[in-house]
Amino acid sequence: MGQTIVIFGASGDLTSRKLIPALFNLYCKERLPDGTRIVGVSRSEMTSQAWRDKLQGTTAQFSENGFDESKWSLFSQLVEYFPGDVNLSETFTRLDAFLSQLEGGALTGRMFYLAMAPQTYQTIVEQLGRAGMAKQSDAASWRRIVLEKPFGTDRASAIALNAFIHQWFDETQIYRIDHYLGKETVANIMVLRFANTIFEPIWNRNHIDNVQITAAEETIIGRRAGYYEKSGVLRDMFQNHLLQLLILTAMEAPSRFDPDTVRDEKVKVLRAIRPMTMQTAATDSLRSQYRTYRDEPDVDPRSQTATFGIVKFYLENWRWQGVPFYLRSGKAMSCRTTQIVIQFKKPPHFIFDSQKNVNPEANKLVLQIQPAEGIKLYFQTKTPDAGMAMRQTSLDFNFQSGLSATIPDSYQRLLLDVIQGDASLFARADEVELAWSVIDPIQQAWDSGVPPLSFYESGMWGPEQAFDWMEQQEGRQWFDVCPVFRK
Ligand code: BG6
Repeated sequence: MGQTIVIFGASGDLTSRKLIPALFNLYCKERLPDGTRIVGVSRSEMTSQAWRDKLQGTTAQFSENGFDESKWSLFSQLVEYFPGDVNLSETFTRLDAFLSQLEGGALTGRMFYLAMAPQTYQTIVEQLGRAGMAKQSDAASWRRIVLEKPFGTDRASAIALNAFIHQWFDETQIYRIDHYLGKETVANIMVLRFANTIFEPIWNRNHIDNVQITAAEETIIGRRAGYYEKSGVLRDMFQNHLLQLLILTAMEAPSRFDPDTVRDEKVKVLRAIRPMTMQTAATDSLRSQYRTYRDEPDVDPRSQTATFGIVKFYLENWRWQGVPFYLRSGKAMSCRTTQIVIQFKKPPHFIFDSQKNVNPEANKLVLQIQPAEGIKLYFQTKTPDAGMAMRQTSLDFNFQSGLSATIPDSYQRLLLDVIQGDASLFARADEVELAWSVIDPIQQAWDSGVPPLSFYESGMWGPEQAFDWMEQQEGRQWFDVCPVFRK
């Protein structure tokens, strides 16, 4: 028994930066199951040895724990290259024969990883289907397909893509990747909530004032305009990563940790989100663009694409009624951070000297997804030797301290899960369609100019308006823990 990982898009960035380094790291940690083979498929003519040589350099560069040449020479023996054009059916008949020969007739599972542009998904799926490569004859000869985001560009296209793929692969064979779900700190949200008892009683509208979910990046669009111009921050970050963080924060405890039970609960959160309308998009969302965006290669000089956005969501259920979830993401920001801030309510009655303790801050629990992965609880303590003056202090947990290992890249976990047939951390068809139904009305409002696009300086903390909106309209403040440069 064994498994073959077939990567379509062998010469692409995802393969060299993420997939091969992740597989190599798993191999070094002796976690890659025995009998694993890796076959890269792409158009260029190249020998397996030439591909291995190319991968050696990139893997050394992108691997997390240094690079061990002797391990690489063993690992690289598992790697083969197969040249072929995915538009030609004969590529797939040849590929099937090549894989069978490689597997030597043993019962072998096959993972088809689509590390190519989404426009090629239907072609590859159909070719695999027509070549009979999607059929699983028994449990050991499983066939699974892995698709990267974006999965569709709106609800209609996601439904159409699901229906198309379902002609050949059933839902249990499909793994839609959201790499955020492979992050240790993201998986830990479920552990924090469902393996501890102290948080659950206060995890609701009675104790929580608001939730702030932020994914800020320093990076700019660079060479990705071809994709990003059509996508923008809503499709690129909100529809998948940020909604997933919201879901994990808001979901009810599943009765079991199995893929369908977990995903049933996740879907309920998406169903509970109050749909946005043109009117609410005008007041409950903000969109902005960093000033140098239009100077980047292939960006329309009049581009209206948002590189920064804020959306306020409400969930219509008993637990979260009236609690705003503020989602915020931007590129070209002053620091990189992904964090979830659970802001608790202020004390109902304040008994200490309010002259000295101007506006004492509410308690906050910060789930720091990256970097400096950890959890921090903020609370008030007495300032020593200063009467009843107080200050905000914190209890701090950091994932790395005490551990010699680094936190693994999310692809390691996700690739292993696919091999093991565990789809808990992958989006199900209905989940991805519902996520689009949440995003579509906002995107439509944005596309029609509502709310108007504002601009911000690169290297700042988004537009000035974002602070005013929070303070004046919402009567609250953002809580940020990394260097925030306000104009
Ligand atoms: C990707 C987006 O899905 O996630 C990118 O397409 C973004 O635009 C990236 O930069 C962020 O991922 P991470 O793991 O660096 O937070």
